[in-house]
Amino acid sequence: KKPKIAVIGSSSMDLVVTSKRRPLAGETVLGESFEMVPGGKGANQAVAAARLGAEVHMIGCVGDDTYGKDILDNFKNNGVHIGYVKQITNQSSGTAHIILAEGDNSIVVVKGANDFVTPEYVNQSLTLLKKFDLVMIQQEVPEETVLEAVRLCHEIGVPLLLNPAPARAISNEVVDKAAYLTPNEHEAGMLFNGLELSKALEKYHNKLFITEGAAGVRYHDGSGEHLVPSFPVKVVDTTGAGDTFNAAFGTAIAEGRDLKESLRFANRAASMSVTGFGAQGGMPTREEVEKGLAE
Ligand code: RIB
Ligand code: NA
Repeated sequence: KKPKIAVIGSSSMDLVVTSKRRPLAGETVLGESFEMVPGGKGANQAVAAARLGAEVHMIGCVGDDTYGKDILDNFKNNGVHIGYVKQITNQSSGTAHIILAEGDNSIVVVKGANDFVTPEYVNQSLTLLKKFDLVMIQQEVPEETVLEAVRLCHEIGVPLLLNPAPARAISNEVVDKAAYLTPNEHEAGMLFNGLELSKALEKYHNKLFITEGAAGVRYHDGSGEHLVPSFPVKVVDTTGAGDTFNAAFGTAIAEGRDLKESLRFANRAASMSVTGFGAQGGMPTREEVEKGLAE
């Protein structure tokens, strides 16, 4: 059956330049290209999950500028439900300023309207949230919003997947009440300040999944630690790979697939996403992932 997923999070416009190398402080370099593509961790995860066949309801905010309109159009084009995406008057949409250089990205995010994804706003969506198989959230919205979402989901018994990106310290309550946590190694270091990562994996077995980029994803199933390997591909742009991973993992989990199978599905989807330019370029459909897995 089609899983029903609510994504609480950011929606932004990504302003992407490519350059041979990134400038040092105080330096100017000449780049090669500039493109604007839809992004934002929340929106990326919503679009990826929709392409993978989930019924996705976005809970977010955009500005009343042209980017806001473009972001809404993009949701519609990808079949994401936007009844709970609010347009904020006199606000700019969130933007991400991305430099692609030397084989990797550097990003400055300006949250703009995404700061209006408040605890109150999430609370208002309570009736909607209740009917979901899974709620997904990231950290481009205020910290209190994450706490509120985690509390609410815990209370009503809906599993919540927190992708703790970008990195910031979070409270123990959030760690305890979230059903799934998917930091990369750097974010995990901030989450379990002081605790060795292998100890954290064991303590939070079947809850904590540490992504290690091209290497794969690490977790502990209660009896041992496992690395579920990724799939080798020709990389065009790694932006959004984590979002695709989270969306695919969440979709598979919400469908009732087991963890190992869900992680393989997620790795396959993420590896395909990096073969296309832009966060959402290259994000595969379900059919493409199934085909990739069968290869
Ligand atoms: O995770 C990738 C996203 O992070 C980009 O689309 C950009 O918006 C940044 O916020
Ligand atoms: Na991509």
